[in-house]
Amino acid sequence: MLKIAVIGLGWWGSTIIKCLQESNIVEIYAAVDIDEKRGNFICSKYNLRYYKNIEDALGDIDVDAVIIATAHGLHEEMFISSLEANKHIFCEKPFALSSKAAKRMITGAESKGIIIGIGHERRYEGALEELKRVVDSGKLGTLLHLEFNASYNMMVNAPPTGWRKDPREAPAGMMTALGVHQTDFMQTLAGPVKSLNSQLIKRSDDFPNEDVLTIQFNFKSGISGSLTSLATTPFYQRMTVFGDRGWIENREISNVDMPDPARLMWCAIDNEIHTRTFKMTNTVRANIESWASAVMGNGSYRFSNEEILHNVEILEAIVSSISSGQEVKIS
Ligand SMILES: NC(=O)c1ccc[n+]([C@@H]2O[C@H](COP(=O)([O-])OP(=O)(O)OC[C@H]3O[C@@H](n4cnc5c(N)ncnc54)[C@H](O)[C@@H]3O)[C@@H](O)[C@H]2O)c1
Repeated sequence: MLKIAVIGLGWWGSTIIKCLQESNIVEIYAAVDIDEKRGNFICSKYNLRYYKNIEDALGDIDVDAVIIATAHGLHEEMFISSLEANKHIFCEKPFALSSKAAKRMITGAESKGIIIGIGHERRYEGALEELKRVVDSGKLGTLLHLEFNASYNMMVNAPPTGWRKDPREAPAGMMTALGVHQTDFMQTLAGPVKSLNSQLIKRSDDFPNEDVLTIQFNFKSGISGSLTSLATTPFYQRMTVFGDRGWIENREISNVDMPDPARLMWCAIDNEIHTRTFKMTNTVRANIESWASAVMGNGSYRFSNEEILHNVEILEAIVSSISSGQEVKIS
């Protein structure tokens, strides 16, 4: 078993601990949070060793690996200190806020032969695994266009002064909350992005920042794509892939707050519509266990470092395009 310390015990760090309770591949052994009240509460609930500071957890020789689940601006420095302490690292999304930081983190990990884990658990959803299988099978013919939407008003009631509404920590509307999962999945279907154009505007009075994000993508493969992410509408998530022989569409009515099924529909050249429903599964556990297995030398992990880096390059290009109003190329 890989012995893990979870860094950050807020919403997501505590969700991760809950999701891994039944694991026989990883053992959540310790946890860190600067908020002592929260740290003591979660650690006594799950019988974990509590540390107030990351340095103390990194100095614990019984900790094999860390899961970084703190605000985005802390990922880079916590990742680098964990590397210096020779720990394996699973980092929550977004991996980093700039490609320069991401390169530094990845180069450091590669120099130590460390396999990086990344919190894009959606790749382990049954409906998305099946969607990718259909796309990769060639049944849709020549791929034309990806049309994705990830919208959720989850941040409307978040404190107005917290990091989630600070554009330095959470730039480009809902990109760091939701959109980075979508762009991660888009690149597994269409490959790397060549250029993109994005726009962020304010429409609803319910949100202090801009709430309507739209992005147009040109992938190097010649496929085009679009992503819409609205911060002030109820949960809506759709991923549609169009080819010249058919289309396939995933409608998610579930997320971690709403354990409902996902519905996959596809249509081939004969115009017959097929529908299949996928129950929600513990994808957080599937992702972390698959990373931990790879760390322990069993099997390979689904994410390459190139993809982890490229997803940060896409985020950076979106932020740059919003601010310049221009198309941004990714070299
Ligand atoms: N994979 C997913 O689907 C998913 C879902 C939600 C959040 N996340 C990611 O998880 C991360 C955390 O998000 P959250 O919603 O749990 O945030 P949060 O604000 O609820 O929790 C962050 C925690 O970190 C603690 N903290 C702050 N500074 C610290 C420090 N120096 N050392 C130790 N602890 C410190 C805070 O006290 C807090 O408890 C983010 O990267 C977020 O994007 C991922």
